[in-house]
Amino acid sequence: MCGIVGYIGENQAAPILLDGLAKLEYRGYDSAGIAVYNGQEIVMEKSMGRLKILEELTHGGATMPGTVGIGHTRWATHGSPSDTNAHPHFNKEHSIVVVHNGIIENYGKLKTMLENKGYEFLSETDTEVLVHLLTEYYDGDPIPAIEKVMRRVEGSYALGIMFRDDPSHLYAARKDSPLIVGASAKGNLIASDVPAILRYTREVYYLENEEIVRLSADGVEFFNIDNEKVEKNVTVIDWDLDAAEKGGYEHFMLKEIYEQPKAVRDTISPRLKDSDVVIEELGMTDEEIRAVQKICIVACGSAYHAGVTGKYVLERMARIPVEVDLASEFRYRDPIYQEGTLAIVISQSGETADSLAALREAQQHGVRVLGIVNVVGSSIAREADNVMYTWAGPEISVATTKAYSAQLAALYLLAMKFAWVRGTITREEFRTLQSDLEQIPEQIESLLGIKERVQRFAQRYLAADHMFFIGRGIDYAISLEGSLKLKEISYIHSEAYAAGELKHGTISLIEEGTLVVALATQEKLYPKTISNIVEVKTRGAFVLAVTNFGHKEIEKNADYVIYIPKTNEYFANSLAIIPLQLFAYYVSLGKGLDVDKPRNLAKSVTVE
Ligand code: AGP
Repeated sequence: MCGIVGYIGENQAAPILLDGLAKLEYRGYDSAGIAVYNGQEIVMEKSMGRLKILEELTHGGATMPGTVGIGHTRWATHGSPSDTNAHPHFNKEHSIVVVHNGIIENYGKLKTMLENKGYEFLSETDTEVLVHLLTEYYDGDPIPAIEKVMRRVEGSYALGIMFRDDPSHLYAARKDSPLIVGASAKGNLIASDVPAILRYTREVYYLENEEIVRLSADGVEFFNIDNEKVEKNVTVIDWDLDAAEKGGYEHFMLKEIYEQPKAVRDTISPRLKDSDVVIEELGMTDEEIRAVQKICIVACGSAYHAGVTGKYVLERMARIPVEVDLASEFRYRDPIYQEGTLAIVISQSGETADSLAALREAQQHGVRVLGIVNVVGSSIAREADNVMYTWAGPEISVATTKAYSAQLAALYLLAMKFAWVRGTITREEFRTLQSDLEQIPEQIESLLGIKERVQRFAQRYLAADHMFFIGRGIDYAISLEGSLKLKEISYIHSEAYAAGELKHGTISLIEEGTLVVALATQEKLYPKTISNIVEVKTRGAFVLAVTNFGHKEIEKNADYVIYIPKTNEYFANSLAIIPLQLFAYYVSLGKGLDVDKPRNLAKSVTVE
């Protein structure tokens, strides 16, 4: 996903822009650029490839003097990665320059209109229509021109804008793409995300949809699309800079795998009060909890996989019907909303376009929406009726690990709360669940000790073309996440299958030596999964089994076994996923790939 940084103040802008863009590299990009006002004109440098190229081009920013500027890392949506398509984008006179994150959905029509008026387009991007529209509307006052553009465009945008004849200000606006404003004594900033500005300030304002901000060296002013001033409260960011740094690990992903015990502990501890689950932010009375007739969980990617686990746990523990939908499907399948439906939107970033759109779709039908979100103040967190934060801290690696584990923990708490209030579990059962849940962080800690063993096993599969993950029930949910972790960072094709489904077609793909990872943590389903292991073994598969301590007999069937500490079956996913995360990490590392920034992927997909 694209990254935006802007600065105006007493310091040189270019080094601050480059530093801020470096903190946003985790979002995934294919080109980068900066523009700075040097006292006479706006100068710009941009190039395809890694940020390092731009740093070398500008000697760390030294060749671009000036105290106001904007920068951008581009994740291509319209137009291939190239120097020309990189942002920023100038108008013809170089009097206005723009950076943009998002998609202008009606850019084709606007481009034709502008070309008919004589505007020349240099790039293939949708963004370029913005700078020519601004030129069309600009009559010396930037704010009305920006507002006119906001009314003309459809789609999503986070914008950074500079006007050559107004060099004492920097402008920004947003709709559906995140943008924050940082205020400091040495200057003011805009950025797509907090890590980009944390070195300079902890005082942050979250720009709301269709708001504009005008920054000067010593202040910030907010406006709505009707040119009315808006007062905003400042948020003080409380996590520290090294939380967004590698902390001595080779990759953010490994650091975040090791942060999972803390992420789970920080998510559950504040909400587990002596024999009770207290989720104040749920905003629901016991009466309202009892009135819930159906839960719709909606999310994307790993958050969706957490939701699949949530379905099994909520249905079994709280006896509530639960549907789980991919957000990109939910929003177009014209879902049936019945009385008493609670929607739960799960999102690490809180900015995923499909999940945000699904949230709005549900709310438009009068459905109450609970967000389970990791990034404080993100769009989904702010637009949901209530938000239950996962306290995993900033997650930088594109492949989610600690946020996923924290999402599972949040769903367990929710299930326990609903089960207790609805009377589907006894006091004794609740206490057992609470005790088992409180042990999960230490059990994850102990499991991390298998790192070297998993690393050695992973070396055998660096050249593999296909891998399969199978399981039943919650083990199927674990398979989904294990498979995605592997493919997204190792680029090895992998599929997750409900173990019972394999024989209905896919087993035809099993050949001599095909790796099948079999999850067998659910006691009642264990014998069935053993039969599925035998099925694939007889067709030549090499089976890695992940099961609970004590199931030594599995070694008669599986070729390689990883044992996880015995825990409550509801919570098995939180443990079984650890070796699968490490396996994916070491396969990717062994293949020499960019573990934290896998090709084609972005940390948060804020476009459709
Ligand atoms: C998971 O490792 C991926 N990065 C991706 O599937 C991610 O979970 C998905 O894009 C949803 O992101 P969100 O949780 O920020 O909404």
